[in-house]
Amino acid sequence: PFDFNGRDFLTLADFSKEEIEYFILLGIDLKEKLKKGVPFKPLAGKTLGMIFEKSSTRTRVSFEVGMVQLGGYPLFLSKQDIQLGRGETIADTARVLSRYVDGIMMRTDSQQKLIEMARYSTIPIINGLSDLFHPTQAIADFMTIYEHKKKWQGLKLVYIGDGNNVAHSLMITGTKLGMDVVVASPKGYEPNAKVIQLAKEEANRHGGKLEVINDPQVAVIGADIIYTDVWTSMGQEQETRLRLEHFKGFQVNSQLLKAAEKDHLFMHCLPAHRGEEVTDEVIEGPNSVVFDEAENRLHAHKAILTAFIR
Ligand code: CP
Ligand code: NVA
Repeated sequence: PFDFNGRDFLTLADFSKEEIEYFILLGIDLKEKLKKGVPFKPLAGKTLGMIFEKSSTRTRVSFEVGMVQLGGYPLFLSKQDIQLGRGETIADTARVLSRYVDGIMMRTDSQQKLIEMARYSTIPIINGLSDLFHPTQAIADFMTIYEHKKKWQGLKLVYIGDGNNVAHSLMITGTKLGMDVVVASPKGYEPNAKVIQLAKEEANRHGGKLEVINDPQVAVIGADIIYTDVWTSMGQEQETRLRLEHFKGFQVNSQLLKAAEKDHLFMHCLPAHRGEEVTDEVIEGPNSVVFDEAENRLHAHKAILTAFIR
């Protein structure tokens, strides 16, 4: 139904509501196939290069396992081990890898590098997390929401904490899917202004809302989904102490969640810093779906690989 030939998966801003729904529903279908033991190996003989400039547990393992389950072969390419880490350019790396592999998934500190990679490669580039976005995470997240709530339209998703890559992808995807998205961040840690603008336009187009405020207590009122992420992302370690101070009052704990809907979902992309952005009680509590969410990375990534690799 959709043609992803010649396209890259760098941000969900590049995809329509229908295309995003397609990725999610394909993920659900592939999950069912796997659980039922139905063989599905459309990527036999295909290879995926996986470049990591930063650490990863979920993204690395789920892409690697997903590629194998689809019949393909993944190569883990840590920055330290390839010439990219010694100054070979993105443009050269992209052109060389294009001659060997059928797709590249890359985790990097800069969206600009992904754009550069996409410009010089002849194969699809998949964003496995950048400074600005975490789109593969968002597909797994909205898949998890659908499994538990059977819909997206009209649900209130509240993100509490740092206006970071994960928040940006939730804002864009949530508003495209017709949800009311509220972000509560400390002053100075709000999401990127351009992303706010884009998400507002998507909200208008699809019948939802996008709000950015500084009060978590107000934000959580009537929430169907509460989402948080670490206060200090990879690469910001030198700001840890300052951030601990600035994010006081933004912890997701049982007290804060009293104002949310009783059947709310608690979500977190993981890894979590328990005792900082979320308490043990909440992340281990009955409303938490964080491990479903982590599992769904595998199924979501298989959907993305199936759509893009050829
Ligand atoms: N959520 C996520 O991307 O986890 P990893 O950093 O372990 O890949
Ligand atoms: N915001 C976090 C997400 C990790 C999956 C980071 O960028 O480190």
